[in-house]
Amino acid sequence: MARRRIIAGNWKMNMTPSQAVELVATLKDLVVNPDVDVVYCVPAIDIVPVAEAIKGSNVALGAENFYIEDKGAFTGEISAPMLKDAGVKYIIIGHSERRDIFGENDILINQKVKKAFAAGLSPILCCGESLALRKAGTYTEWIKRQITWDLDGVTADQVKELVIAYEPIWAIGTGETATADQAEEVCKMIRETIADLYDEATAEAVRIQYGGSMNAGNAAELLAKPNIDGGLIGGAALKPDFGKIVNA
Ligand code: PGA
Repeated sequence: MARRRIIAGNWKMNMTPSQAVELVATLKDLVVNPDVDVVYCVPAIDIVPVAEAIKGSNVALGAENFYIEDKGAFTGEISAPMLKDAGVKYIIIGHSERRDIFGENDILINQKVKKAFAAGLSPILCCGESLALRKAGTYTEWIKRQITWDLDGVTADQVKELVIAYEPIWAIGTGETATADQAEEVCKMIRETIADLYDEATAEAVRIQYGGSMNAGNAAELLAKPNIDGGLIGGAALKPDFGKIVNA
C-alpha cells in the first residue's frame, strides 16, 4: 500500500492574523497537488481566520500546541476539543522547541499523543537528536527511546493514522539540512522501531516526515527516499517556495 505524501508547514510564532490570511491567499494556487496532503500548522490566534481562508481548498488545518485537559482553570491554554471544534485536523506534538524551550518531557508528550487521538486529532509527533548526540553516535538509541516512550499505550490502529516527523535539532532553522541519506537512515530506523513495537502492517502504514531546513532546492531528493513520506517545513512554509515543496 502506497503511503500518501504529507507536506506540513510549521508556521511557529509567525504571522499575525491578517498576515496569515494574506499568506493563505498567496499560496492558494501554488499548493494544489491532488496526490499530497497539504497542512498549515498555525499559531492559536490564526486558527479561526485560517480555517475560514482555506475553506474549499485542498489544505487541511493544523495546530502547534494544546494542553491535555478538556477545559477548566488552565489560564492561557487551549484544549484538544477546542481545536477540533475550530476545524483543526493535525496537531504538532513534541517539537524540539517545545521540548527544549518549554520543558516538555516524554511523559507529557505521551499524554498529549493519547489525548489528541481521543479528541479526533491526528498527531504529528516530532523526534530528533541534538548535535552532541549526532556527534557521539548515539542518536539511534535516543530516537528509539523517544518513540517508545511517546507511544506508550497508543494502539496499532492509532499509529496507522500517526505522522512522525524526524527533525534533527542541528538542522532546524540552521540552513544545514541532513543529507538525503542521513535522513533516510533515521526514517528507516523509525519504521523498523514501529515494526518492533507493533507489527509490519503498522510500520508500513505510518507516515514519516523529514524536517529541518527542507526547502525548494533539497525537497525532491529527500522526498525521493523510500522511507520519507513528507516534510515538516518551518522557514520555507512562509514563502511561495512552499508550493515548490508541495510539488517537488
Ligand atoms: P525549518 O524548521 O524548516 O525552519 O528548519 C522545521 C521545523 O522546526 O519544523
